Amino acid sequence: MEYRIIMIGCGTVGQGLLEILEKKAAFLRDVYDFEPRIVAITDKLKGTVIWPEGLQIKPLLETLKQGKKLNDYPGPREKADEFVDPLDLIEKVEAEIMAEMTYTDIKTGEPATSYIKKALRTGKHVVTSNKGPAALHYAELRELARLNNRHFRIEGTVMSGTPVFHLFENGLAGNELLQVKGILNGTTNFILTKMELDGLEYDEALKLAQQLGYAEADPTADVEGFDAVAKVVILANALMGGTLKPDDVRRQGISHLRKKDILEARETGQRYKLIASVKKDGDKITASVAPERLPLSDPLSAVMGAQNALTFETDLMGRVTIQGAGAGRIETGFSILSDMLAIARCAAR
Ligand code: HSE
Repeated sequence: MEYRIIMIGCGTVGQGLLEILEKKAAFLRDVYDFEPRIVAITDKLKGTVIWPEGLQIKPLLETLKQGKKLNDYPGPREKADEFVDPLDLIEKVEAEIMAEMTYTDIKTGEPATSYIKKALRTGKHVVTSNKGPAALHYAELRELARLNNRHFRIEGTVMSGTPVFHLFENGLAGNELLQVKGILNGTTNFILTKMELDGLEYDEALKLAQQLGYAEADPTADVEGFDAVAKVVILANALMGGTLKPDDVRRQGISHLRKKDILEARETGQRYKLIASVKKDGDKITASVAPERLPLSDPLSAVMGAQNALTFETDLMGRVTIQGAGAGRIETGFSILSDMLAIARCAAR
């Protein structure tokens, strides 16, 4: 079946998605009966391109790889100015799915939240990797999706394409979730690993994380725990029906830890990890992000480098742990694809 797709934002995640769609077009059609047709892309820095019959992905990717703007796309396209406001574009262009892949603003969730509302109100399913709307407005957006009989899917917001939400929604369906506990920030896990295994000091490990592109140029969101807070709020609200806000989460980062602390923990058979957790106690849901000394026997202790992991504590299955990438161009691009395939599966029923 064919799906018309609008892409809002075409940075790392959007281009990762396009690469996958280009490479796997035949596979997705033959195995999943999924034929995506990208009908519009708009990106604040790269401009806008619209073609209701479907843009050609190969020349699109070549244009972007050469550092050119979307307006330089050589294939058939509508004439458009430099940049079409996403709200106008969503209103005007017909599509089944909107993939929202703009930057995260964790204070307001905007402008992404407005784009998502507009898409749901104009009858489009929404898939997003943006943590802002999911962390701040999850219940409202889910309700809006329900009222419009559309999906609001957020797999890429936590652990990129590692299937946290798919696992809970499908494989673990029927379980009650008592607690989730995980390593949700790759940068800090990388820093802790380098301090322990390579004997680097905190500053050296952070510098390396920046050089390798794990940490942002301003790494505060990573090392002070704000990124993990956003993710844990999403888990609390999306998986446990909570109504938490980021300020409700107890937060401590890792910037105070020194090599000697890490090595001292190691001597007692423990390992420091930045642990994000959500607990349910009756109706009360509480969340925290803080460094913890875990015994080496804990599955989360074995998660090294920039990897992420999450342990679900359930009533029927006990503890189930999932480990995988927490970021990356292809990995997050895949999260968008996996949500689109879930929408297609439902439509085929
Ligand atoms: N800065 C984040 C991390 C990227 O290090 O995990 C993924 O959200």
